[in-house]
Amino acid sequence: MMKLKHLATATFCLMVAFGCSSEKSPIYKDASADIEARVNDLVNRMTLEEKILQLNQYVLGINTVENNFGEMVKDIPVEIGSLIYFNDHAEVRNAMQKKAMEESRLGIPILFGHDVIHGYRTTYPIPLALACSWNPELVRQASEVAAQEAYDCGVNWTFSPMVDVSRDPRWGRVMECFGEDPYTNAVFCEAVVKGYQGDDMSEKNRIAACLKHYVGYGASEAGRDYVPTEISDQTLWDTYLPPFEAGVKAGAATLMSAFHTISGIPASANHYILTEVLKEKWQHDGFVVSDWGAVEQLRYQGMAEDEKEATMLAFNAGIEMDMADRMYQKYLATLLEEGKVDMKLVDESVRRVLRVKFRLGLFEQPYVEEKPESEMYLLPKSLEIAEKAAAESMVLLKNENSVLPLEDVGTIAVIGPVASDSTQHLGNWGARARAEDVVGIVQGMCEEYAGKSKILTAKGCDFEGEDKSGFAEAVRVAKASDVVVVCLGHKGSWSGENQSRSTIEIPKIQEELLSAVEATGKPVVVLVTTGRPVELPRIEKKADAILQTWHSGVRAGKAIAGLLSGRYNPSGKLAMTFPYSTGQIPVYYNRRHRARTGDQGLYKDITSEPMYPFAHGLSYSTFEYGKLTVSADKLKEGETISAEVTVKNASQRDGLETVHWFVKDPYSHITRPVKELKYFEKKLIKAGENVTFRFEINSLRDLGFVNREGKKYLDKGEYRIMVGDQSVSIYVI
Ligand code: NOJ
Repeated sequence: MMKLKHLATATFCLMVAFGCSSEKSPIYKDASADIEARVNDLVNRMTLEEKILQLNQYVLGINTVENNFGEMVKDIPVEIGSLIYFNDHAEVRNAMQKKAMEESRLGIPILFGHDVIHGYRTTYPIPLALACSWNPELVRQASEVAAQEAYDCGVNWTFSPMVDVSRDPRWGRVMECFGEDPYTNAVFCEAVVKGYQGDDMSEKNRIAACLKHYVGYGASEAGRDYVPTEISDQTLWDTYLPPFEAGVKAGAATLMSAFHTISGIPASANHYILTEVLKEKWQHDGFVVSDWGAVEQLRYQGMAEDEKEATMLAFNAGIEMDMADRMYQKYLATLLEEGKVDMKLVDESVRRVLRVKFRLGLFEQPYVEEKPESEMYLLPKSLEIAEKAAAESMVLLKNENSVLPLEDVGTIAVIGPVASDSTQHLGNWGARARAEDVVGIVQGMCEEYAGKSKILTAKGCDFEGEDKSGFAEAVRVAKASDVVVVCLGHKGSWSGENQSRSTIEIPKIQEELLSAVEATGKPVVVLVTTGRPVELPRIEKKADAILQTWHSGVRAGKAIAGLLSGRYNPSGKLAMTFPYSTGQIPVYYNRRHRARTGDQGLYKDITSEPMYPFAHGLSYSTFEYGKLTVSADKLKEGETISAEVTVKNASQRDGLETVHWFVKDPYSHITRPVKELKYFEKKLIKAGENVTFRFEINSLRDLGFVNREGKKYLDKGEYRIMVGDQSVSIYVI
């Protein structure tokens, strides 16, 4: 630190020489001045030590005991750039901010970040579930609520959305992304960024977004976490970069680097993705934060020999802020002295961090109003969105003989480990989630069917283990009922970071419970509450209906009961393929063609088709698709044509239908997937009515494709527009 101090003094003397200290009201404090002018003015006044601290992020408030708050605050340098804010009291955050504003030389506010992944206190369905709603506007609204609750508690910056396309449900983090498709991730990414940031981040209740984990973390080998990935440049551009590009275009203030290695180069030391693509090609002017300890970890990844080298590699690659491991604080000054890091890059990095702080309006409103919880959390409108989001995210996978909805039923048995365990609906990554806020399945069913049907319940067994002592009671309850709802699944904690699983089965004990109950001969509805696609073939054989409920947040039980009763009509469709078995993984819809036809190359022991494909999902309505038509079958680059399909609701029940528009490029100089989603739209179709869905096909955007440098091409020739089982050829001339 001695060397750092010398440099700091030198910088300060220079500032005095240029007369900065004599100014009365510096530009950076002038709210009416242009942000770039404010950023430059402030950077010019900063010492090296102050600059380096802006590039560091510590943690505030792991302890929840009141006595520890002061100490935690006391330990933190007042010039720190950012804090991960683990407390849930705005007063702690305000106390720390006050120190930064009043005790630091320049009064630079701290940026408080936190993981707000699917709601803050009002927990929404996990992102993978939200994607199955195909309702980006609803997801934007949910993100807006999350931003308001987080902001009211003192959070300015969330580490989400996570848009790592993933095709491996063994990976615990599939719950955090929007499924297996790049376009779907891109659309929901934009919705979430807009929900958090709005049009102006400095408005009250807005927080900065952070796209993560940049990039390709979802390509994780065999679903293991933190392991290396092999991603060709072509696949990087085809599959992993598009959601990030969409988020950058939507204005996302920040990104987070990823833990993994991409074809030999760790993502957190990857100049190509962090600087050449992000900053030079996409012109992103916010900043990149490393993931937790990702700088230091470059040593374990076999790249940096020691901490100092790790710091040099990460910083020079383009990571501006160091999360948690304090490497930048320890080594940046020495690296500067040794000429291994350029002062210009330090200044540029500080500028990026400050720009986000100015855009958030933190200099003008550093504090947050301390309000009672009842004014911040679980507001009626927020809960309404939570229930709607849960209902639209759940996917009806099977409904034989229209066993659902359960109308006019005398007695309903609700059985299984998830039935009364409301905590599990919160899933993983619940920011301020509390079990007591959740309406679980039994509660939801009792409220839904009050005065209509009798609800009996039994746990039957635990999530795992071998204890079958509850089976007899479950069978007794099933026998006493007219229909049995069996609630199976995974605990919330079985998904998320560091939650890889070698199999995606539902534990055997739960399948055995289902068998015991099914043996009663009663109609069986299975609810599957998980954070990932799971193996369902054995369960499917014993179920008349299956509803995939995911980990769906505080109103999960209300949404489930509403779907079972018919108050809601299911409209969710899968954003991630369900395989028959773990051995089929990876199985996803937008794969490239194989070299042989027929059954050549397919599995000899089981089908190579998935159990439930991408976009599968049933409704209580019957939708009939009319003929797919196009406004013209030839177009040139720069031209637009449209495709249309009219969908009839041939049932007595109003229903929401999502039309997915796919494009297939049958022959191309870089081979394309068998089909690619290019657009989707969800609309209400009233009973007996027709609604027309339209896809405006922009030649370059929707038919073009990128090469391995990200350059977009449009080949001449045939393309197919596909909806359901229909396909129409159009030609680029
Ligand atoms: C590590 C996780 O990978 C990342 O997603 C998260 O935002 C940070 N920890 C901070 O909690």
